[in-house]
Amino acid sequence: MMKKTILTLMGIVLLTFLAACNAGEASSANKEEQKVLKMATSADFPPFESYDIQGNFTGFDVELAQAIADELGYELKIQDMDFDGLIGSLQAKRVDIVLAGMSATEERRENVDFSEPYHRSGEMFIAKADQQIEDLSNLEGKVVGVQLGTIQEEGAEKLAEEYGFEVKKVDSANILVQELNSNRIDVAYMDKTVATGYITSQGFTGFDDPTTSSPGMAIAFPKGSELVEEVNAILKQFEEDGTLTALEDKWLSEYK
Ligand code: ARG
Repeated sequence: MMKKTILTLMGIVLLTFLAACNAGEASSANKEEQKVLKMATSADFPPFESYDIQGNFTGFDVELAQAIADELGYELKIQDMDFDGLIGSLQAKRVDIVLAGMSATEERRENVDFSEPYHRSGEMFIAKADQQIEDLSNLEGKVVGVQLGTIQEEGAEKLAEEYGFEVKKVDSANILVQELNSNRIDVAYMDKTVATGYITSQGFTGFDDPTTSSPGMAIAFPKGSELVEEVNAILKQFEEDGTLTALEDKWLSEYK
């Protein structure tokens, strides 16, 4: 009799213990769900990333990142910085992921990892409508603005001597447009998709750079990040289930 009571008591203790363990597991799973995905961007680049009138981040990259975070079960936190600082913040592991219309160049691959590309674009020279710019020879004697740290900065430097123009570097793509409008630069050299938007919204004129073919835009990660594979799988799924096409239709259809 005594033995039975002890056994029953032990059983109760064991069950209580197991239940407690279970509860512990559940709460750590909840914590897991609330894990934060830290993203950095340079929100000066519509239709990929900019601010809406309420001051929230908006654009193709922002929605793609949100969809990826949802798939991963992470909360997305976005931090805005100059484009030039993005690679450094990945290297220092201050952020987990960068979506900033960033072209996956070989040079950058030395310092960060990239997902598969999600968009392809080209480069354009744009100017106010009263400027005669139709090809590279028209750039002679002009001041051409570029955003610091971009492939356009590098590209412009390469062409400057041959075509006789001066390169002016600024921190943000928004400033480039202001500089054009206030005649502090004659021409801006930028991503074609983004330039197309400014041609429409600001009445600029321009031409395609015939000299370059830049690599596609991709998501960047710290070197060796475990997220690369997971995110590539999600991108593949988004390609197959129509999510990517829907995002393109929503954000990029007017920029062709
Ligand atoms: N695609 C170009 C590059 O990777 C320009 C990207 C600029 N992005 C931005 N968010 N301002 O260099």
